[in-house]
Amino acid sequence: MSGPSAIPVITVDGPSGVGKGLVTRWLAERLGFHRLDSGALYRILALAAHRRDLDPHDGAMLAGLAPALEIRFVGTTEEDEAIMVDGEDWTHDVRKESTGALASLIAVQPAVRAALLQRQRDFREAPGLIADGRDMGTIVFPDARLKIFMDASAEERAQRRLKQLSAKGIEAKLAPLREEIRARDERDRNRPIAPLRPALGAEVVDTTGLSPTQVLARVEVLLQRSGFV
Ligand code: DC
Repeated sequence: MSGPSAIPVITVDGPSGVGKGLVTRWLAERLGFHRLDSGALYRILALAAHRRDLDPHDGAMLAGLAPALEIRFVGTTEEDEAIMVDGEDWTHDVRKESTGALASLIAVQPAVRAALLQRQRDFREAPGLIADGRDMGTIVFPDARLKIFMDASAEERAQRRLKQLSAKGIEAKLAPLREEIRARDERDRNRPIAPLRPALGAEVVDTTGLSPTQVLARVEVLLQRSGFV
Protein backbone atom coordinates (compact mmCIF):
# COMPACT_ATOMS: atom_id res chain seq x y z
CA MET A 1 0.00 0.00 0.00
CA SER A 2 1.13 3.56 -0.57
CA GLY A 3 -0.32 7.02 -0.03
CA PRO A 4 -1.73 8.54 3.12
CA SER A 5 -4.27 5.76 3.68
CA ALA A 6 -1.36 3.41 4.48
CA ILE A 7 -0.74 5.48 7.61
CA PRO A 8 -2.67 3.93 10.52
CA VAL A 9 -5.16 6.00 12.50
CA ILE A 10 -6.82 5.31 15.85
CA THR A 11 -9.87 7.45 16.50
CA VAL A 12 -11.08 8.31 19.99
CA ASP A 13 -14.47 10.03 20.09
CA GLY A 14 -16.74 10.93 22.97
CA PRO A 15 -18.40 13.73 24.91
CA SER A 16 -16.67 16.46 26.84
CA GLY A 17 -14.84 15.50 30.04
CA VAL A 18 -14.84 11.77 29.33
CA GLY A 19 -11.05 11.37 29.48
CA LYS A 20 -10.16 11.40 25.77
CA GLY A 21 -7.15 13.62 26.50
CA LEU A 22 -5.70 11.06 28.92
CA VAL A 23 -6.28 8.18 26.53
CA THR A 24 -5.08 9.89 23.34
CA ARG A 25 -1.92 11.28 24.96
CA TRP A 26 -1.16 7.85 26.38
CA LEU A 27 -1.78 6.16 23.02
CA ALA A 28 0.42 8.66 21.18
CA GLU A 29 3.23 8.02 23.65
CA ARG A 30 2.73 4.25 23.71
CA LEU A 31 2.87 3.90 19.91
CA GLY A 32 5.08 6.90 19.07
CA PHE A 33 2.24 8.32 16.93
CA HIS A 34 1.21 11.92 16.26
CA ARG A 35 -1.89 13.27 17.98
CA LEU A 36 -4.70 15.45 16.66
CA ASP A 37 -6.77 17.39 19.20
CA SER A 38 -9.59 18.31 16.82
CA GLY A 39 -11.56 20.06 19.57
CA ALA A 40 -8.70 22.53 19.91
CA LEU A 41 -9.13 23.51 16.24
CA TYR A 42 -12.82 24.29 16.82
CA ARG A 43 -11.89 26.16 20.00
CA ILE A 44 -9.18 28.20 18.24
CA LEU A 45 -11.52 29.18 15.42
CA ALA A 46 -14.24 30.15 17.90
CA LEU A 47 -11.79 32.25 19.90
CA ALA A 48 -10.32 33.88 16.81
CA ALA A 49 -13.81 34.90 15.70
CA HIS A 50 -14.64 36.19 19.17
CA ARG A 51 -11.46 38.28 19.30
CA ARG A 52 -12.29 39.79 15.91
CA ASP A 53 -15.87 40.48 17.03
CA LEU A 54 -17.27 38.27 14.27
CA ASP A 55 -20.77 36.81 14.43
CA PRO A 56 -20.42 33.17 15.64
CA HIS A 57 -23.46 32.24 13.53
CA ASP A 58 -21.94 33.44 10.26
CA GLY A 59 -20.61 30.13 8.94
CA ALA A 60 -19.23 31.54 5.68
CA MET A 61 -17.20 34.18 7.49
CA LEU A 62 -15.84 31.63 9.98
CA ALA A 63 -14.95 29.26 7.15
CA GLY A 64 -13.04 32.09 5.48
CA LEU A 65 -11.12 32.79 8.65
CA ALA A 66 -10.08 29.16 9.26
CA PRO A 67 -7.34 28.80 6.62
CA ALA A 68 -5.78 32.13 7.60
CA LEU A 69 -4.87 31.01 11.12
CA GLU A 70 -1.33 29.77 11.66
CA ILE A 71 -1.67 27.07 14.33
CA ARG A 72 1.11 25.20 16.11
CA PHE A 73 0.77 22.61 18.88
CA VAL A 74 3.87 22.52 21.07
CA GLY A 75 4.67 19.82 23.66
CA THR A 76 2.99 16.48 24.20
CA THR A 77 1.84 16.36 27.83
CA GLU A 78 -1.01 18.29 29.40
CA GLU A 79 1.52 20.19 31.53
CA ASP A 80 3.89 21.26 28.80
CA GLU A 81 1.40 21.77 25.98
CA ALA A 82 1.23 25.18 24.32
CA ILE A 83 -1.19 26.23 21.62
CA MET A 84 0.36 28.91 19.44
CA VAL A 85 -1.85 30.91 17.08
CA ASP A 86 -0.27 33.45 14.74
CA GLY A 87 2.80 33.36 16.95
CA GLU A 88 0.94 34.05 20.22
CA ASP A 89 0.38 31.68 23.13
CA TRP A 90 -3.40 31.05 23.32
CA THR A 91 -3.23 27.97 25.58
CA HIS A 92 -5.01 29.38 28.61
CA ASP A 93 -7.93 30.94 26.73
CA VAL A 94 -8.34 27.95 24.41
CA ARG A 95 -8.81 25.66 27.44
CA LYS A 96 -11.52 27.76 29.15
CA GLU A 97 -15.02 26.28 29.46
CA SER A 98 -16.49 29.38 27.80
CA THR A 99 -14.31 28.68 24.75
CA GLY A 100 -15.55 25.07 24.67
CA ALA A 101 -19.14 26.31 24.66
CA LEU A 102 -18.40 28.76 21.84
CA ALA A 103 -16.65 25.99 19.90
CA SER A 104 -19.70 23.75 20.22
CA LEU A 105 -21.84 26.62 18.91
CA ILE A 106 -19.79 27.22 15.76
CA ALA A 107 -19.33 23.46 15.24
CA VAL A 108 -22.99 22.99 14.23
CA GLN A 109 -22.36 24.93 11.03
CA PRO A 110 -21.62 22.86 7.92
CA ALA A 111 -19.32 25.53 6.42
CA VAL A 112 -17.17 25.49 9.55
CA ARG A 113 -16.90 21.69 9.57
CA ALA A 114 -16.04 21.64 5.87
CA ALA A 115 -13.36 24.31 6.36
CA LEU A 116 -11.66 22.26 9.09
CA LEU A 117 -11.95 18.85 7.42
CA GLN A 118 -8.76 18.86 5.32
CA ARG A 119 -6.84 20.61 8.05
CA GLN A 120 -7.61 17.67 10.33
CA ARG A 121 -6.70 15.07 7.68
CA ASP A 122 -3.35 16.80 7.18
CA PHE A 123 -2.33 15.58 10.64
CA ARG A 124 -2.16 12.03 9.26
CA GLU A 125 1.56 11.54 9.08
CA ALA A 126 3.85 8.52 9.49
CA PRO A 127 4.19 6.51 11.60
CA GLY A 128 0.52 7.03 12.61
CA LEU A 129 -2.11 9.26 14.16
CA ILE A 130 -4.27 9.26 17.26
CA ALA A 131 -7.30 11.47 16.56
CA ASP A 132 -9.32 12.94 19.45
CA GLY A 133 -12.78 14.42 18.84
CA ARG A 134 -16.47 13.88 18.15
CA ASP A 135 -16.57 12.71 14.52
CA MET A 136 -13.09 11.26 14.01
CA GLY A 137 -14.36 7.72 13.38
CA THR A 138 -17.55 8.67 11.55
CA ILE A 139 -16.45 11.49 9.21
CA VAL A 140 -12.82 12.57 9.34
CA PHE A 141 -11.05 9.18 9.35
CA PRO A 142 -13.70 6.62 8.38
CA ASP A 143 -10.93 4.18 7.38
CA ALA A 144 -9.29 4.22 10.84
CA ARG A 145 -7.92 0.82 11.88
CA LEU A 146 -9.25 1.11 15.43
CA LYS A 147 -12.19 3.25 16.52
CA ILE A 148 -12.85 3.88 20.19
CA PHE A 149 -15.92 5.62 21.59
CA MET A 150 -15.60 6.71 25.22
CA ASP A 151 -18.57 7.52 27.41
CA ALA A 152 -19.30 8.26 31.10
CA SER A 153 -22.16 9.67 33.12
CA ALA A 154 -22.60 13.45 32.92
CA GLU A 155 -22.19 13.75 36.70
CA GLU A 156 -18.84 12.01 36.68
CA ARG A 157 -17.63 14.05 33.72
CA ALA A 158 -18.54 17.28 35.50
CA GLN A 159 -16.59 16.16 38.58
CA ARG A 160 -13.56 15.26 36.50
CA ARG A 161 -13.70 18.52 34.56
CA LEU A 162 -13.80 20.46 37.82
CA LYS A 163 -10.63 18.73 39.03
CA GLN A 164 -8.92 19.21 35.69
CA LEU A 165 -9.71 22.91 35.55
CA SER A 166 -8.64 23.57 39.13
CA ALA A 167 -5.34 21.76 38.46
CA LYS A 168 -4.78 24.27 35.67
CA GLY A 169 -5.60 27.18 37.95
CA ILE A 170 -8.92 27.86 36.19
CA GLU A 171 -11.70 28.59 38.68
CA ALA A 172 -15.03 26.79 38.22
CA LYS A 173 -18.06 25.57 40.21
CA LEU A 174 -19.73 22.16 39.93
CA ALA A 175 -23.37 23.17 39.31
CA PRO A 176 -22.75 25.51 36.35
CA LEU A 177 -20.19 23.05 34.99
CA ARG A 178 -22.75 20.25 35.10
CA GLU A 179 -25.28 22.40 33.28
CA GLU A 180 -22.69 23.48 30.73
CA ILE A 181 -21.74 19.85 30.04
CA ARG A 182 -25.38 18.87 29.67
CA ALA A 183 -26.07 21.70 27.19
CA ARG A 184 -22.91 20.97 25.19
CA ASP A 185 -23.70 17.22 25.07
CA GLU A 186 -27.16 17.90 23.82
CA ARG A 187 -25.92 20.21 21.07
CA ASP A 188 -23.07 17.89 20.02
CA ARG A 189 -25.28 14.77 19.99
CA ASN A 190 -28.27 16.28 18.25
CA ARG A 191 -26.79 18.45 15.52
CA PRO A 192 -27.78 17.35 12.01
CA ILE A 193 -24.19 17.29 10.70
CA ALA A 194 -21.54 14.98 12.18
CA PRO A 195 -23.37 14.41 15.48
CA LEU A 196 -21.51 12.78 18.34
CA ARG A 197 -22.17 9.03 18.08
CA PRO A 198 -20.15 5.83 17.95
CA ALA A 199 -18.86 4.97 14.47
CA LEU A 200 -19.90 1.67 12.97
CA GLY A 201 -17.63 -0.96 14.49
CA ALA A 202 -16.41 1.33 17.27
CA GLU A 203 -15.29 -0.19 20.57
CA VAL A 204 -17.34 1.50 23.28
CA VAL A 205 -15.50 2.11 26.56
CA ASP A 206 -17.71 3.32 29.42
CA THR A 207 -15.37 4.91 31.94
CA THR A 208 -17.95 5.64 34.66
CA GLY A 209 -16.45 4.51 37.96
CA LEU A 210 -13.11 3.54 36.40
CA SER A 211 -9.76 4.95 37.47
CA PRO A 212 -7.36 6.25 34.79
CA THR A 213 -5.28 3.08 35.20
CA GLN A 214 -8.34 0.89 34.64
CA VAL A 215 -9.33 2.88 31.55
CA LEU A 216 -5.85 2.55 30.07
CA ALA A 217 -5.83 -1.20 30.79
CA ARG A 218 -9.01 -1.55 28.69
CA VAL A 219 -7.48 0.45 25.89
CA GLU A 220 -4.36 -1.73 26.01
CA VAL A 221 -6.55 -4.78 25.43
CA LEU A 222 -8.05 -3.08 22.36
CA LEU A 223 -4.55 -2.34 21.05
CA GLN A 224 -3.60 -5.98 21.41
CA ARG A 225 -6.79 -7.21 19.79
CA SER A 226 -6.34 -4.95 16.79
CA GLY A 227 -2.69 -5.86 16.33
CA PHE A 228 -1.12 -2.54 17.25
CA VAL A 229 1.08 -4.10 19.91
O1 DC B 1 -13.24 18.27 22.74
P1 DC B 1 -13.46 19.71 23.07
O2 DC B 1 -14.19 19.92 24.36
O3 DC B 1 -12.19 20.50 23.01
O4 DC B 1 -14.41 20.28 21.89
C1 DC B 1 -14.99 21.55 21.92
C2 DC B 1 -16.22 21.58 21.03
O5 DC B 1 -15.82 21.52 19.65
C3 DC B 1 -17.20 20.44 21.20
O6 DC B 1 -18.16 20.70 22.20
C4 DC B 1 -17.83 20.29 19.84
C5 DC B 1 -16.76 20.75 18.89
N1 DC B 1 -16.06 19.63 18.25
C6 DC B 1 -16.65 19.07 17.15
O7 DC B 1 -17.76 19.47 16.78
N2 DC B 1 -16.03 18.07 16.48
C7 DC B 1 -14.85 17.60 16.88
N3 DC B 1 -14.25 16.64 16.19
C8 DC B 1 -14.22 18.14 18.03
C9 DC B 1 -14.87 19.16 18.72
